[in-house]
Amino acid sequence: MSPAVGGQSRAEGASVPTATQLPTGPEKVEAVRRMFDTIAGRYELVNGIVSLGMDRGWRHRCIDALELPVGSLVLDVACGTGDLCRELDRRLLRPVGVDLSSGMLAHARSPGPLVLADAVFSPFRTATFDGAVSGFALRNVTDLGVLFVELARVTRPGGRMSLLDLAEPEAQLLRLGHRLWTNYAVPLVGSALSDAAAYRYLPRSFAYLPPAHRVVELLEHAGFVAVEHELLSGGISQLYTATRKHEAGGP
Ligand SMILES: C[S@@+](CC[C@H](N)C(=O)[O-])C[C@H]1O[C@@H](n2cnc3c(N)ncnc32)[C@H](O)[C@@H]1O
Repeated sequence: MSPAVGGQSRAEGASVPTATQLPTGPEKVEAVRRMFDTIAGRYELVNGIVSLGMDRGWRHRCIDALELPVGSLVLDVACGTGDLCRELDRRLLRPVGVDLSSGMLAHARSPGPLVLADAVFSPFRTATFDGAVSGFALRNVTDLGVLFVELARVTRPGGRMSLLDLAEPEAQLLRLGHRLWTNYAVPLVGSALSDAAAYRYLPRSFAYLPPAHRVVELLEHAGFVAVEHELLSGGISQLYTATRKHEAGGP
């Protein structure tokens, strides 16, 4: 296998998703948009069940790691139905959500403004935000390198970023259990409550995740410093945190 768009994907280019192939480039953007439009109505319900409620704790950790003062303006990248926006608001931070799925935004509950856009071509002015967060979206973005450059642009120097996603645990036994859960239980729950194809995509979407050292490299290249990678819950979830570099002379 060779790296695809932006060195992000480990999947080879294919226009139609099959059991073994995943789309890349503009086809991926459209496939992702359609999929989330389809599952939006029950997204939060299914999410809570398939993560066994653990997503709550991971979201808390994601926002804790921002370490931003009350009143800070924070972009929730690929905000979906607004889970992280609501949590930001509970912490007295000011959320702005952006997502490319109108279906997800139609089902969103958020105290802050929501913007329908591809986060890679964001409509925000340079250095608008004190920070940015993202939940479970890294696998779904077509080119992580381009996204990170865009996030560096819209985040002020010294601003903070905290990106959460799923991961595959390293420990053998946990990895086996995790594979059984994501390959069999998740599609079953998904097909009972939502859309079977979308929840068959979940285990396959792990192939899009670059290794941690590559994500760190992409973040540093985009203009972030103090990049840290943390595994959560035995490695079934992961968090990248970073600080936006000051233009000259480091942070
Ligand atoms: C798994 S959901 C996560 C939703 C939410 N962040 C959460 O924590 O539950 C992934 C979201 O990423 C959005 N998305 C994927 N690529 C995007 C992009 N390039 N720009 C904006 N949103 C994107 C999808 O529409 C979807 O709502």
